[in-house]
Amino acid sequence: MYRNFRIVPNIIFGRGAFNQLDDVIKHKRTSSESYFVFVVDDAFTGQPLESRIPLKGRDLLLRVNVDDEPKTTYIDALVKQIRTYHFEKPVGVVGIGGGSTMDIAKAVSLMLNNPGSSADYQGWDLIKFPAVYHVAVPTLAGTGAEISRTAILTGPEKKLGINSDFTLYDQILLDPDLIAGVPKEQWFYTGMDCYIHDVESLQGTFINEFSRAYGEKSLDLCRQVFLQDHPDRDDKLMMASYFGGMSIAYSQVGACHALSYGLSYVLGIHHGIGCCIAFDYLDEIYPEGVAEFRQMMARHDISLPRNLTKGLDQAAMEKMVTTALGLVPLWQNCLGPDWADIMTRERTMELYTRM
Ligand SMILES: NC(=O)c1ccc[n+]([C@@H]2O[C@H](COP(=O)([O-])OP(=O)(O)OC[C@H]3O[C@@H](n4cnc5c(N)ncnc54)[C@H](O)[C@@H]3O)[C@@H](O)[C@H]2O)c1
Ligand SMILES: [Fe+2]
Repeated sequence: MYRNFRIVPNIIFGRGAFNQLDDVIKHKRTSSESYFVFVVDDAFTGQPLESRIPLKGRDLLLRVNVDDEPKTTYIDALVKQIRTYHFEKPVGVVGIGGGSTMDIAKAVSLMLNNPGSSADYQGWDLIKFPAVYHVAVPTLAGTGAEISRTAILTGPEKKLGINSDFTLYDQILLDPDLIAGVPKEQWFYTGMDCYIHDVESLQGTFINEFSRAYGEKSLDLCRQVFLQDHPDRDDKLMMASYFGGMSIAYSQVGACHALSYGLSYVLGIHHGIGCCIAFDYLDEIYPEGVAEFRQMMARHDISLPRNLTKGLDQAAMEKMVTTALGLVPLWQNCLGPDWADIMTRERTMELYTRM
């Protein structure tokens, strides 16, 4: 059985494309009552980008904080805030920020049209009604959140995405100018998320020509960005992120992502840096990928935090292992059907102990 998967139908790409945002969304403003909600990373508060947001009439500027990765309680609170703001729903939601903000905007647009708590929909294809029209403007490149069918949320019981065809953006606006000023560490960690998507997709057992076509191109772009400092590196990283996302959409990620979920769930470590931390211990599984990753780290003078699990009690360590091993499709992709014999609890624990 092959999956029939939906992709983002409308894409605008290019330096300065942000100036066209108003034009791109205005078809939704059908009456004077219509309003948009702009979900914006609060890192941009008072920054030039904020003043360029095409706010009109009743539009709501919703600044969001992503110091912690998005939680279901946060999504529910934001939806409540919008409902209190106006009895009618907005005609659209525009997310402006990195992967966290893009996921918040996805989840908010879904929850405006679906009853209950966002935690009820963590899983696969649980969403019943299509989302409000939603648009993403990435300001970081690497996660592929702009193109994926998931909004990753930390809930009361698990870190798991709202995976559905309705989650996908209706429109994305990719403007490489917006990632030009990202601090080096953040640029690197989020960029490596993409590099690791490519390695895990290409080396996985689920690989197929569709995923390979995107994954190889994305990997090539990552090399130009992180090993050759190409003058058009912002354009290239933005496309690498998109292609990496397309690659994993039809294959899967692997061991590194599974382990990073454990780090994130128990220690609150963000996705990009968590992937880097885990990847550095996976020479046995991805020898070439890890060697190249270390070259990239050296070139950009990145040093990863160490000894993160030192002093953690047994219960916390066990929870981390359980979280990682619970991501069965990732392990199946990485190690094949007999993965559980290869990645035992003991081996997983040993990897975490070294981190
Ligand atoms: N939906 C998906 O398919 C998918 C895939 C991978 C990761 N994710 C999620 O994405 C998140 C990670 O996203 P991320 O790595 O893009 O980072 P992020 O969105 O968590 O942001 C990281 C930091 O960078 C700041 N920032 C954002 N844009 C900036 C800019 N232009 N200049 C300066 N600072 C900026 C933010 O304020 C924040 O402090 C995690 O929550 C993860 O779960 C989602
Ligand atoms: Fe990732």
